[in-house]
Amino acid sequence: MSIDFHQRGRTAFDLSDKVVVVVGAGQSDGPGMGNGRAISLLAARHGAEVVAVDLNPASVKETVEMIVAEGGRAYAIEANVAHEDDCRRIFDTAMATSGRVDGMVYSVATNPPFDFETNSMTVENFNYGLNVNMLGCYHCNLFAAQCMEKNDGDTAGSIVNISSIASVKNEIGLNVGIMPYALGKCGLNQITEIAAVQYAGAGIRVNTLMLGPINSVLAQQASQSLFGVDADEAAQRHSEVVKLKMGRGTVWESAYAALYLLADESRFMTGQQIRLDGGATLVR
Ligand SMILES: NC(=O)c1ccc[n+]([C@@H]2O[C@H](COP(=O)([O-])OP(=O)(O)OC[C@H]3O[C@@H](n4cnc5c(N)ncnc54)[C@H](O)[C@@H]3O)[C@@H](O)[C@H]2O)c1
Repeated sequence: MSIDFHQRGRTAFDLSDKVVVVVGAGQSDGPGMGNGRAISLLAARHGAEVVAVDLNPASVKETVEMIVAEGGRAYAIEANVAHEDDCRRIFDTAMATSGRVDGMVYSVATNPPFDFETNSMTVENFNYGLNVNMLGCYHCNLFAAQCMEKNDGDTAGSIVNISSIASVKNEIGLNVGIMPYALGKCGLNQITEIAAVQYAGAGIRVNTLMLGPINSVLAQQASQSLFGVDADEAAQRHSEVVKLKMGRGTVWESAYAALYLLADESRFMTGQQIRLDGGATLVR
């Protein structure tokens, strides 16, 4: 039953025979790549069938086309994770199409519009932000685990919830604009820990991958719209303690960390908050 990691010549981080649902597999409009797309590409390169989910149908279709062009396996589902029914449909579709779910990455985030001048946000926008950043995470963890419970083996499934150092540190500034994001990520961190305990007996692992400044499209836009500073200035403020020579991370550092967490090699790790932040949260 247990995998023999000692075996010479085995392929590391092999996801073949695994179905991995990546929620947030599209990306915000603009140049460059998002974390969910990079995670999807890498999972497919390591053999997984990728169920690519996003609110943005054109973008998630593009992710699928990129995977297929490389010879990988993937299909797209359009869904809005703010709605419980959409979250349920993601996993019903994956089970109907692929027959199983082995991995789930929750790589979604939104920053609802707010008035920078008056520092105000409508209750509807505030709640929508929490529904996407937190409640959707809960629903996707729940429905993913219900699929994974059907799997055999000591590693029945792996869930990776993508968080942010905004849930533990804020060196840039406080306004209502950041609240649905920061609070949502705090909730996501907690969902990970509770789910890890709840599903450990079923062989399902749940970890948080907490990202610092990563060079995605969303990060570039958010620094400007939330705080009126460019992304490099935001990264600079986050990195005052440890100044890594490379400055910001790329989506590929995130993707390789997620790959490790999805793969059986991380089978003894659950309930953890793994900080991929260039040391930005080393000293608070
Ligand atoms: N880039 C960074 O610096 C950074 C830092 C910390 C954490 N993160 C986290 O990384 C993850 C990915 O973000 P990214 O920076 O790669 O940006 P991204 O724009 O590439 O990814 C976010 C995706 O979420 C999708 N999405 C938004 N609302 C949705 C909804 N209601 N339903 C379904 N999909 C929805 C968007 O369409 C987009 O494709 C997020 O969880 C984000 O919080 C990023």
